[in-house]
Amino acid sequence: MFVCSCFGVTEEQVRSHAEAGACTPRQIASACKAGTDCGGCVRRIQALLGRGACPRRELIDQGAPALAELPEAA
Ligand code: FES
Repeated sequence: MFVCSCFGVTEEQVRSHAEAGACTPRQIASACKAGTDCGGCVRRIQALLGRGACPRRELIDQGAPALAELPEAA
């Protein structure tokens, strides 16, 4: 499903950028331009990021360095 119709960016693409470390709509925009045209998708991107798409966010909330190694997935 498309999150950003201006650039044809899908929810999956936003999730994979988030998993790669993009934790804010601005960082998502840097990765794939989503949100940089009409801006209509920024809230959808925020919602995706807020739903745990970014594994680093929890670590940041706990005060861990943002670029620290993530624990290995089992
Ligand atoms: S829908 Fe994403 S910038 Fe327009």
